[in-house]
Amino acid sequence: MTENRENWSARSGFIIAAIGSAVGLGNIWRFPYVAYENGGGAFLIPYLIALLTAGLPLLFLDYATGHRSNGAPPKAYRLLYKPAETLGWWQVCVCMVIALYYAGVLTWAGSYVYFSVGQTWGSDPEKFFFNTFLQTSSASGFDFTFIRHLFWPLVAVWAVVLMILYGGVKKGVELSNKIFMPLLIILFSILVIQALRLPGAAQGLNAFFTPNWSAMMDYKVWLAAYGHIFFSLSVGFGIMVTYASYLKPKTNLTGSGLIVGLANSSFEILAGIGVFAALGFMAHAAGTSVKDVVSGGIGLAFIAFPKLISSLGPGADLFGLLFFTSLLVAGITSMVSILQVPIAALQDKLHWSRKRAVTVVGGSTGAVSIFLFSTANAIKLVDIIDHFINNIGIVSGALVSIVMVSWFKRTLMQQFEIHINSISTIQLGRTWEFTLTVITPVVLLSTLLLTLSALLRQGYGDYSLSLQLCFGWGSIIFCILGAIAMSKVKD
Ligand code: ALA
Repeated sequence: MTENRENWSARSGFIIAAIGSAVGLGNIWRFPYVAYENGGGAFLIPYLIALLTAGLPLLFLDYATGHRSNGAPPKAYRLLYKPAETLGWWQVCVCMVIALYYAGVLTWAGSYVYFSVGQTWGSDPEKFFFNTFLQTSSASGFDFTFIRHLFWPLVAVWAVVLMILYGGVKKGVELSNKIFMPLLIILFSILVIQALRLPGAAQGLNAFFTPNWSAMMDYKVWLAAYGHIFFSLSVGFGIMVTYASYLKPKTNLTGSGLIVGLANSSFEILAGIGVFAALGFMAHAAGTSVKDVVSGGIGLAFIAFPKLISSLGPGADLFGLLFFTSLLVAGITSMVSILQVPIAALQDKLHWSRKRAVTVVGGSTGAVSIFLFSTANAIKLVDIIDHFINNIGIVSGALVSIVMVSWFKRTLMQQFEIHINSISTIQLGRTWEFTLTVITPVVLLSTLLLTLSALLRQGYGDYSLSLQLCFGWGSIIFCILGAIAMSKVKD
């Protein structure tokens, strides 16, 4: 083990931080709208298949990679195979890009905690969200009109996250998770129980749990499921490699992984239940069906929930407070984990102190994030960057890391298996090998090719070409250049 390397106080500290990383905006904000857009209930089966065939196998691989090397991705992959350091920096750059917009959405959640008191959104939450709050530009191209009320909360979000990171692995990351995660579980459980008691909740749950077999024939539903699972579990972009690198030598890796995976998916499905129960209530109140009550998309949480809250009567403010505070708390612990990747990578490579690494990463990423997401283009940029970085950035990084060990450096796979099995309760064997050698690469490669071909043929959404080129493809180019440049730096 590297001398003076930080570590978790105990395995429980790691597990809680890993759950804190996994459970985030992905579960409460992203999953319900992705599920909603991909056929509601139809999405659950591809989601579970994606979890078993790609999410969990890769989670174990990420754990083994970080744990054996005691390093963030660039160091970890370089120790496996020297040229693979570039892959590590690719994942670092992906994290930096995600952090940009993650802070943006966290800011919205924070603002909505405040708006919940007195239901500032008034009678038309959709109009309030897009026009009054985000002041979304009607121009199709660039519009950097500054919006002051988005700026200060962004500064506050970055300040809180960086303060936690300055505290280090034990006193910052672990401690904050030990406070925030129990809080989140309490808040969110109350919220879901409340949602289930609403009239019409059953109608919403039917929409969520009734499989729509024809939608499952649509390859896009599968793409969405595989694209989502990595983001949700925090695998394939360096977070779990980094977190596992702070574990003590003898740690039960598979047991921990199953707890994290189960907790994450339970939370995700719980969030789906809460959101769809709420949609059911709204449909019931409006005398219509679930799919007609609200448009899906990225604003689902910020439109559906305010609509619901406004129709609740007494106690409505409390409901809003619970929901948006949950979103904020879940997101902060994940954002901490996303930024921990570049911070640890710089510490490994340049032997910087934590303070210096946090200042440089936080200063540079924070400045760009605050600039971009306090403008009239905020929601468009969240949508574009999220789509490109998830479906190309994360998926390709995950694919290369898997193919490297399962196809090209097969002995590594055996070494990992021996390493994991020698310290873990649940033993890995042929199923894990087969999944990573055949199923996951084939699915990921097809997913990636289909996504690339759809993007090249039709672009994404109805955004202008200039926005897609600059922020969508631009994010990918940033990751390519960043990865090549950083891997050339001498340590
Ligand atoms: N896993 C984190 C989330 O779901 C990134 O938001």
